[in-house]
Amino acid sequence: MNQVDYLRISLIDRCNFRCHYCMPEGAELDYILRQELLTREEILTLLQGVFIPLGFKKFRLTGGEPLLRPDLIEIVRGIASLEETEDLALSTNAFLLAPLAQPLYDAGLRRINISLDSLDPDNFARIIGKTGRYHWLKTWEGIQAAYKVGFNPLKLNIVVIPGVNEQEVLDLAALTLDKPWHVRFIEFMPIGNEELFQQRAWIPSAELRQLIRDKWGLVTAEVRGNGPADVFTIPEAQGTLGFISQMSECFCDRCNRMRLSADGWLRPCLLNETGQINLKTSLRNGIELTQIRAQVAEVLALKPEINYKQRESGTLEGSYSRTMSQIGG
Ligand code: GTP
Ligand code: 5AD
Ligand code: SF4
Repeated sequence: MNQVDYLRISLIDRCNFRCHYCMPEGAELDYILRQELLTREEILTLLQGVFIPLGFKKFRLTGGEPLLRPDLIEIVRGIASLEETEDLALSTNAFLLAPLAQPLYDAGLRRINISLDSLDPDNFARIIGKTGRYHWLKTWEGIQAAYKVGFNPLKLNIVVIPGVNEQEVLDLAALTLDKPWHVRFIEFMPIGNEELFQQRAWIPSAELRQLIRDKWGLVTAEVRGNGPADVFTIPEAQGTLGFISQMSECFCDRCNRMRLSADGWLRPCLLNETGQINLKTSLRNGIELTQIRAQVAEVLALKPEINYKQRESGTLEGSYSRTMSQIGG
């Protein structure tokens, strides 16, 4: 059985982008009210009193867009300074990263994953639901700042959609040739934009690997991480290429993570709401930490069954009342 020791903590459900695959077209999302967000103290209490005693030691901060959280630096400092924290990482769109890269590093963060769906500023703007070149430039500036400050590994996430950014796969892969960056191609999942899913808008990783292999060759490699990516490298390249293939090669049976939403829902599966419980409600109702820990242990015990069912369903279609930006990717 997999050890479940990786917690993805969503700090905020808001995002400053509207990636077309992530947010339903035209939909107005109901944002979580400020007072409903887990506070920094509550997050740290839950880690120390519940998750760490249950064996969790790898943490990733997500959103929405986590850089929108005003007390992000303090949260990073708090988690990084816990003795049991083995790994602390952040997933961001990097739009606000340039001025925050150094303070985040100083607070103890060492690795960052950044979404970069296109190298073409106009295409990028279309994908994230904006106009002009400004957003790409700021994002690129954020990536450069993170590189300069020394985040390592530095990973770039690309959700490859046919007819949108498929034509850029080789250019994106080429970023790894002379930079120690780790480019990851992600198959679009059925969460967020329902219409895209109806069009089966994902490209099997095997196809992308073949395209890259034909041009440069490809050998297996490794990079530090806790996620489901299969890692390769172009011979002589400085960085690696990762493939996250949830549609063509479902990895639910080796799932090692749980998710904590910004308003305190503990979710055992990204694609399935079975078994979720609200830890913020328990905390605010004064339930003892030992009792909350017992509730979480029950959810943990349910997880192998949920993973198995998710895999058996074959389609990865689950029940979601929340989008990826609300759950935290
Ligand atoms: P590393 O620790 O660096 O390997 O990070 P990661 O891959 O776990 O995190 P990241 O936030 O970069 O997530 C990348 C992509 O992996 C997401 O966009 C999702 O597509 C996919 N992913 C992450 N967690 C899950 C999960 O629990 N289930 C499924 N099906 N996909 C996931
Ligand atoms: N399928 C796959 N990946 C997605 N992401 C957002 N929505 C989806 C989806 N429907 C990715 C983002 C980011 C990561 C945290 O989640 O691009 O890289
Ligand atoms: Fe894009 Fe991530 Fe924001 Fe979703 S949460 S709109 S994928 S940047």
